[in-house]
Amino acid sequence: MDVKSKGQYGDFQNEIYFEGLFGVQPTMPMDFAGLEARAQAALPPSVLSYVAGGAGDEFTQRANVTAFERYGLVPRMMVGAARRDLGVDLFGLRLPAPLFMAPVGVIGLCAQDGHGDLATARAAARTGVPMVASTLTVDPLEQVAAEFGDTPGFFQLYTPTDRVLAESLVHRAEAAGFKGIVITLDTWITGWRPRDLAVSNFPQLRGHALANYTSDPVFRARLAKTPEEDPQAAVREWVQIFGNPLTWDDLPWLRSLTDLPIILKGICHPEDARRARDGGVDAIYCSNHGGRQANGGLPALAALPGVVEAADSLPVLFDSGIRSGADVIKALALGATAVGIGRPYAYGLAVGGTDGIVHVLRSLLAEADLIMAVDGYPTLAALRAEGALRTL
Ligand SMILES: Cc1cc2nc3c(=O)[nH]c(=O)nc-3n(C[C@H](O)[C@H](O)[C@H](O)COP(=O)(O)O)c2cc1C
Repeated sequence: MDVKSKGQYGDFQNEIYFEGLFGVQPTMPMDFAGLEARAQAALPPSVLSYVAGGAGDEFTQRANVTAFERYGLVPRMMVGAARRDLGVDLFGLRLPAPLFMAPVGVIGLCAQDGHGDLATARAAARTGVPMVASTLTVDPLEQVAAEFGDTPGFFQLYTPTDRVLAESLVHRAEAAGFKGIVITLDTWITGWRPRDLAVSNFPQLRGHALANYTSDPVFRARLAKTPEEDPQAAVREWVQIFGNPLTWDDLPWLRSLTDLPIILKGICHPEDARRARDGGVDAIYCSNHGGRQANGGLPALAALPGVVEAADSLPVLFDSGIRSGADVIKALALGATAVGIGRPYAYGLAVGGTDGIVHVLRSLLAEADLIMAVDGYPTLAALRAEGALRTL
């Protein structure tokens, strides 16, 4: 039974316990620590350090995770929360759950067959949990979108310095059926990442995950020889055009690129959320990139309430540090419309392919659903009401 079936997410535990009666035990780990340990064994060292690592001594990355310990849900009794509704409306789309897979460039490399973008898209199709596909994929965005089934997908844009190339990528995403464009603002330059520096490894410089560029007519037109003839030259050209240090003056141009919903990713300051809202974006995405970009910052969760308030009526997506269903609940209670995960599904993919991702998503949703049941919060609105969440 996949997540999209009619039962409740918490039913996943019955399935596991009943299978146990026939001697069948889960082959996938049931918690994040177990998942991480298995992924460490499953991934090649260079991919593992790229995925697991963060900026500096990884203080911010760790703080993203521990920040959730500062909050607790207040249980309510006699609510009779026999049925829980986790569905959300986003840009006129009805999502079965407030969960999505954050963009992970190199997710392609996390799969044992090297096609993790496709495996992730298939997990989205099976679960109804959307994938935000990175600009940095092993397979071109059209092939990724072709695997989504009925589940909406979103395209994440790293805005290149070549505006015509940016337009081309966005228009390809529109044509491929993506339902929104996530524009990441915090990665026009790569943060200081000691784990990757120590092994001199940056996957894109080795030609990985550049399919959206090498398949793009605008990018190809910039090259003297095709990427197939001279892959090194294609990588050098990519280095030239990858990162655009955008300013707020660029927002009208970004807005003009598409009628699809635009979501700005990397917003942590309320003033930035207000400027984004005033600039006509459709959603704010509060995130510090999982602590991969700038060390020494606050955990993203600490920024969430201020961003939610400033966003006013706009939806607020959130990621960075979500490791359990309890974390999902806390981020929702702090006002997130939907929450994203990065490393957890990358590890699920590494350990078990598409099935592994489905397992991770079902586990998170089952735990979140059961917390709502036990603690008497049948709806997301109830979770967000005054007094549901307390600071320790
Ligand atoms: C290996 C890796 C690659 C990532 N690549 C991208 C990317 O291409 N675009 C982007 O917007 N964010 C990227 N991110 C950041 C994620 O979208 C997300 O913000 C982060 O992983 C959330 O934190 P978590 O890993 O603690 O769940 C990447 C994260 C990881 C771990």
